[in-house]
Amino acid sequence: MKKHFLALHDFSKAELDAMFALTAELKQKQKNGVEHHLLKGKALAMIFEKSSTRTRISFEVGMFQLGGHPLFISNRDSQMGRGEPIKDTARVMARYCDGVMIRTFGQEIVEEFAQYSDVPVINGLTDLFHPCQIMADLFTVIEHKGGYQGLKYAWIGDGNNMANTWIEAAAIFGFDLTLACPEGYDPDAKVLEWARANGTSRIEVVRDPKVAAAGADVLNTDVWASMGQEQEQKTREKAFAGYQLDQQLLNLANPDAVVLHCLPAHRGEEISDEVIEGPNSVVWDEAENRLHIQKAIMATLMK
Ligand code: CP
Ligand code: NVA
Repeated sequence: MKKHFLALHDFSKAELDAMFALTAELKQKQKNGVEHHLLKGKALAMIFEKSSTRTRISFEVGMFQLGGHPLFISNRDSQMGRGEPIKDTARVMARYCDGVMIRTFGQEIVEEFAQYSDVPVINGLTDLFHPCQIMADLFTVIEHKGGYQGLKYAWIGDGNNMANTWIEAAAIFGFDLTLACPEGYDPDAKVLEWARANGTSRIEVVRDPKVAAAGADVLNTDVWASMGQEQEQKTREKAFAGYQLDQQLLNLANPDAVVLHCLPAHRGEEISDEVIEGPNSVVWDEAENRLHIQKAIMATLMK
């Protein structure tokens, strides 16, 4: 198995399915108070170059529950923020720690870090991918729908890091995905090309959110302006008008469809308050599952 968890495309369906199975086991143990110190005495460095609530807390608590020790390292007060090269930081950290989680901008940063790291590196979000989140999302779908196969998936909104990772997931796991994105906000062309070349799933990019939502079993959206795009907020609000996942759109989906949102959410923008608080929303389970899936990812790579 690949040493680092940088993108879903580095893993086979069987390897990822094994992580789901371990997630179920660890979640059960945690709920029943059964100790599972799979990473006893191990340390995880967590580097954040962008803000976080869920990722930081779930990795930190997850490492604690596995019997290990997490270290929060902000770009601002480490030497990385003062220009210490990535390749130097990576080699030094591997001398202290048993794993590193990074949240940063370019995917090339996590790739370079991994190239120089003797210990596993986990992608905690880049501009291109958010693999831990999509694993948590799929685990949530498994819990609510009994499996991820044979379902119709819809993405409504920006063709961002989340959308790109869903595209990879569709190809690997073999499900159909329709993404409704406004013109100019399509998912990454190379990611789409990879998915179409490496899977048999039907992956479509359309302009009309109604086309994506019609008959969907899983609906997913995300903020219109991701971290690092704050200055584009106003332009994006105009471009994404009509792309809100609201009750009218949800009514086109299967009645027992689940609604996902990785959070943080902007109610009244990409999702309505009615939908995120409504009976189809599973966003709190989804947020919780970040903890359980990441424990499985860490245990698999760092054991
Ligand atoms: N969904 C997610 O990654 O949340 P945070 O930005 O709070 O970590
Ligand atoms: N697309 C969002 C996800 C946040 C978890 C961002 O990159 O900011």
